[in-house]
Amino acid sequence: MSTEITITRPDDWHLHLRDRAMLKAVLPETTRHFARAIVMPNLVPPVVTKADAEAYQARILAALPDGASFEPLMTLYLTEDTDPADVAAAHACGLVKAVKLYPAGATTNSHSGVRDFDKVRPVLEKMAEIGMPLCLHGEVTDPAVDIFDREAVFIDRVLDPVRRATPGLRVVMEHITTANGVDYVKAHDKDLGATITTHHLVINRNHILVGGIKPHYYCLPVAKREEHRLALRAAATSGDARFFLGTDSAPHTDELKEHACGCAGCFTATNTMAILAQVFEQEDALAHLEAFTSHNGPDFYRLPRNSTTLTLRKSDKAVDYPKKILSGEGPVTVFDPGFPLFWQAI
Ligand code: NCD
Ligand code: ZN
Repeated sequence: MSTEITITRPDDWHLHLRDRAMLKAVLPETTRHFARAIVMPNLVPPVVTKADAEAYQARILAALPDGASFEPLMTLYLTEDTDPADVAAAHACGLVKAVKLYPAGATTNSHSGVRDFDKVRPVLEKMAEIGMPLCLHGEVTDPAVDIFDREAVFIDRVLDPVRRATPGLRVVMEHITTANGVDYVKAHDKDLGATITTHHLVINRNHILVGGIKPHYYCLPVAKREEHRLALRAAATSGDARFFLGTDSAPHTDELKEHACGCAGCFTATNTMAILAQVFEQEDALAHLEAFTSHNGPDFYRLPRNSTTLTLRKSDKAVDYPKKILSGEGPVTVFDPGFPLFWQAI
């Protein structure tokens, strides 16, 4: 016997597509299930200007699989030299949907990020004026702060002061990993949303470290204690409009993951929808899956919901999915949820 559910076609509100051979290899994994994605700008060099975003969008469109209908929603990488007028022009023409703020040094390719928040104030004020969302990588980089505390400290030291100093700024706390993040979002009714990844609903920090180090579970922000994973699951499956899916699917080759200094990032594009269906079913919340993957994101971004659908089917037997994606740069391991998957997007 099989069960089916049909939902509005999902969008991914935080995705790394990379460039060149890697882009070509990973793009079909997303376009198979998702209609749109907020595309992260942390290329080398980063996507900083409207012109950079135009060129990157053209490369993504050129790499689309035949017949795919997919809209890349572009972002700009905020630097201390970003020009507010260029940001406003990129937004006004519909090309760029958000600006991404990486604290300098917080994660992969974030060296050009922000050190002095006062320097980006004019850009943030312009964004508040035009209603353009700011996507935040919410971790401090202070070496004195323990890596497992960096999100909680960021909320107090950076997020809350920036929001108070810039009334009306619309903020997405990206890939939240803590109960602190969930609580901060829930305490605010206006101009604040959060994305949650698939993998942070499944793994806690034990998965990375117990029984041998598991580089494919290492990502940033790093997975936290079990109590935090449970808070994320409760938030994601609650139907609360402030929480929506951003997979943060971030491909790195096996060579770079299985390394003495392994890269951060979990590659989940391939099986994200199957895992989510299972997680929501485990939480007895399948009725809220559509809100999380397909309604809350476009509503926050003030974009129309998709008019097409995606059907997910549950089988009696575990369903197979590719364990690796082959790219011209080398194999990329697909996230292993650690349990068999019975759902499948069809
Ligand atoms: C991302 C990447 O590889 O670009 N890595 C990750 O662990 N999530 C960067 C990011 O979003 O932090
Ligand atoms: Zn990311």
